Amino acid sequence: MSPRPLSRRLRAALIVLGLAAAGLMLGSCFSVNQTVLAPPQIAGAHYVGSQACAQCHAEVVHSFGGATHAKLVARGDHDQNIGCESCHGPGSRHVDSSGAALTIVNPHDSPQACFQCHLDKRGEFALTHAHPVLSGKMSCTDCHDPHHGDAIIGGGAANLMAANATCLKCHPSQQGPFVFAHQAVREGCVTCHNPHGTVNDKMLVARNQTLCLQCHYQQQTAGGKLLIGTVDHTSFITRGTCWSTGCHEAVHGSQVSSSLRF
Ligand code: HEC
Ligand code: HEC
Ligand code: HEC
Ligand code: HEC
Ligand code: HEC
Ligand code: HEC
Ligand code: HEC
Repeated sequence: MSPRPLSRRLRAALIVLGLAAAGLMLGSCFSVNQTVLAPPQIAGAHYVGSQACAQCHAEVVHSFGGATHAKLVARGDHDQNIGCESCHGPGSRHVDSSGAALTIVNPHDSPQACFQCHLDKRGEFALTHAHPVLSGKMSCTDCHDPHHGDAIIGGGAANLMAANATCLKCHPSQQGPFVFAHQAVREGCVTCHNPHGTVNDKMLVARNQTLCLQCHYQQQTAGGKLLIGTVDHTSFITRGTCWSTGCHEAVHGSQVSSSLRF
């Protein structure tokens, strides 16, 4: 898998981080950006750089090279690479105490460290239908690997079934095998669900037939009619969603009907 190009968003974040680090030294000039976008802070601690972590966490540092977040070569007070500390906060107290408890941030316990840079995700998780991350029942790391490879587990366009496996370990009933599988599932659970949260029931990316017509829309031949395949759906879609009872309620796959019914 080839590494993704350094995107515009990454470069923007690096600049923001640079500002945030400068803000730490210059006082409160950037107070708004600093509180929202700076790496987590730890009272009385300063940056020591990622190399300092290798002494005791050699394995994490060793495999971090290809990780999405290893591209974060933000600069700390003394111009070191503070990649590890961008999520864990400045490490001097932790290192000086040889790893004493409560001297470093562990983002497993709270998503706040991630929100420092992915602020939009806080918004998604606050929507009415969302995975229970804000309540602490789930963690970002149930689906994302901060230390190795692609942060999106199984991520990468060529690897959609691997990405689905992340979901299926907690939602096995969507796995099948089905006698009549819905090919849409091969395209990825995220074609229909936003994994973080949406305003729609079941975290669907759309609440009506738009969800299905993203793939099933066809050029219409008769005016005023909605043909899907050879079947006229014009009156059906006024009665409910495509996955309402009596229609295609077995939307992930069916054991009994090629039209995806139970
Ligand atoms: C002198 C050794 C030493 C160094 C250097 C060190 N650590 Fe640790 N670290 C430890 C020990 C010991 C623990 C507690 C035992 C464990 O979980 O492995 C620990 C635990 C941690 C934890 C888990 C804390 C928790 O509350 O769950 C994190 C995160 C961490 N270290 C990050 C870092 C980072 C980032 C650096 C570099 C800035 C670093 N460590 C440098 C020794 C060290
Ligand atoms: C993208 C944010 C991020 C970055 C960057 C990051 N970590 Fe972590 N780290 C985490 C999260 C999240 C956890 C909790 C993992 C979990 O849920 O099991 C963690 C856990 C740890 C732990 C506790 C032991 C463990 O594996 O659970 C250590 C030690 C650690 N990180 C060291 C490092 C070191 C060293 C670096 C730099 C090479 C680093 N981290 C970079 C997010 C990050
Ligand atoms: C210091 C800022 C910072 C922190 C803290 C941070 N990230 Fe990131 N993260 C980034 C940047 C920058 C990128 C790269 C964005 C890009 O390539 O478009 C990124 C990329 C990602 C991606 C992959 C995006 C993609 O399109 O491949 C995921 C997933 C992710 N981060 C999750 C997390 C999680 C989970 C945490 C907390 C454990 C976290 N991040 C903490 C800055 C951060
Ligand atoms: C239930 C699994 C799951 C959880 C929990 C989760 N994510 Fe994600 N996240 C995904 C998947 C899957 C994708 C890829 C989406 C896609 O390809 O459209 C993704 C994409 C991302 C991206 C990159 C694309 C984007 O939308 O910007 C970021 C950044 C990200 N997640 C951050 C986070 C953070 C931060 C948390 C915790 C607060 C988190 N995620 C929790 C599954 C999850
Ligand atoms: C670590 C376990 C875990 C993983 C991984 C996970 N989920 Fe979930 N999922 C949950 C929990 C817990 C709920 C909340 C269930 C509830 O509120 O009753 C949930 C709820 C849902 C719901 C709404 C269910 C309902 O009845 O309202 C959907 C849809 C969903 N997840 C899809 C996904 C997708 C897609 C992925 C992969 C990107 C995924 N999940 C990954 C644990 C997980
Ligand atoms: C073609 C769109 C589509 C795809 C792809 C898809 N889902 Fe769904 N999913 C739905 C719809 C629509 C519902 C709502 C069904 C209902 O309310 O009866 C749903 C409901 C769910 C639910 C709630 C429980 C239930 O069955 O009502 C979970 C959990 C879920 N999906 C997980 C997944 C997982 C995991 C994947 C990937 C393996 C996936 N979905 C792929 C459309 C899809
Ligand atoms: C990511 C694309 C995609 C999405 C989104 C999608 N489908 Fe499909 N669907 C397919 C493909 C591909 C097939 C198999 C080829 C075909 O029959 O058109 C299929 C087949 C079907 C079939 C079986 C047709 C037959 O008689 O053989 C039904 C029924 C169906 N889809 C309903 C739905 C419903 C309902 C939704 C919305 C919840 C939906 N699809 C969303 C791609 C998709």
